[in-house]
Amino acid sequence: MNRIMKSIAAIHKSYGNPVEVVNPEEIDVSAPLKGQALVKLLRAVVNPSDLGMIGGSYGRLRQLPAIGGREGIGEVVEIGAGVENVKVGTRVRIPEEPGVWTQYQICDASNLMVVPNDISEDLEAMSFINPPTAYCILNQFTDLKEGDWVIQNGASSALGRFMIQMCHARGIKTVNMLRNAEERSAELKAYGADIVVDESQFDPKSIKAETSGKLRLGLNQIGGESVSNMIKAVGDSATIVTVGGMVGTPIRFPTRFLIFNDLRLRGFWWDKWQRTHTKQEVKSIFDAVFDLERKGILKAPIDSEFELKDIKQAMERAVQNSRGGKVLIKF
Ligand SMILES: NC(=O)c1ccc[n+]([C@@H]2O[C@H](COP(=O)([O-])OP(=O)(O)OC[C@H]3O[C@@H](n4cnc5c(N)ncnc54)[C@H](OP(=O)(O)O)[C@@H]3O)[C@@H](O)[C@H]2O)c1
Repeated sequence: MNRIMKSIAAIHKSYGNPVEVVNPEEIDVSAPLKGQALVKLLRAVVNPSDLGMIGGSYGRLRQLPAIGGREGIGEVVEIGAGVENVKVGTRVRIPEEPGVWTQYQICDASNLMVVPNDISEDLEAMSFINPPTAYCILNQFTDLKEGDWVIQNGASSALGRFMIQMCHARGIKTVNMLRNAEERSAELKAYGADIVVDESQFDPKSIKAETSGKLRLGLNQIGGESVSNMIKAVGDSATIVTVGGMVGTPIRFPTRFLIFNDLRLRGFWWDKWQRTHTKQEVKSIFDAVFDLERKGILKAPIDSEFELKDIKQAMERAVQNSRGGKVLIKF
């Protein structure tokens, strides 16, 4: 008979407020069968999309009961017969499905993505959602040249910081809007941000003048009023890419900018991009991300770390404002 071991997993049985619906529970995990691997969690991340998935508002939901979490790394601790692509000790991306916040996951070994072990565990665990999103947005919507400008709101997010660092490394300048600029300005400038401005004090005309019409790409992470201002600040034929709507109100845009300035409004969803591109195409994005991390170009602050058994505290922390870094979960 197959051996069964116990694992703690962060489970929700209904969609709702993560603080209320997510609980640590013991689940059974079997020993790996032929072609399978047993992976032990090293580090996992709490992202806004996890909260959206648990809350029931995300573009793709898991069937209930569900294990939470989408991003993290683990280590192979046991393999079944016939497995050759990984061995015990190999560091891997924990498969996003059926959920990452679990001490142990049994996986189909052929689906495992081996990841470098010369990158810190904390940074590597954060490599699978925000850095590839920043990379795709920077490379797939406009042909940006050195000296061009990019504008973003919600700039102190992990995604915002990765964007700043990728731009800075390529000689592209950034305008960064956020709701607490006074608190974060020095920090973001140390990451390579050129202009950091509070949303409440944003003046589109002066930003347009300062950037000489070279604001060619916008990243909208949060929605709301800041997008209307962003639209007024960008140059002709600029593209604004929306990835998130944390403010929760619809985006209002002045129609004239679409007509007279050829403004382009687009959206991007990394989740779908991964599912609609070949393994090789996805791998090339991750290779680029790991390369930037290895060179020290990308880094990201951590707010706090929690053990899986303390998932409730992790959820409480994750829903708070002004964290200034990611909440991590470890074994
Ligand atoms: N479409 C995609 O493929 C994709 C991929 C990655 C990320 N995203 C989206 O990108 C956004 C950032 O993700 P992340 O993981 O980088 O986030 P994060 O590190 O958890 O940070 C969240 C950020 O949002 C800011 N924020 C939250 N509510 C806000 C509000 N009402 N007004 C102004 N700022 C607000 C926070 O500012 P404070 O510091 O002031 O609290 C914080 O900087 C999220 O919307 C996420 O869903 C989308």
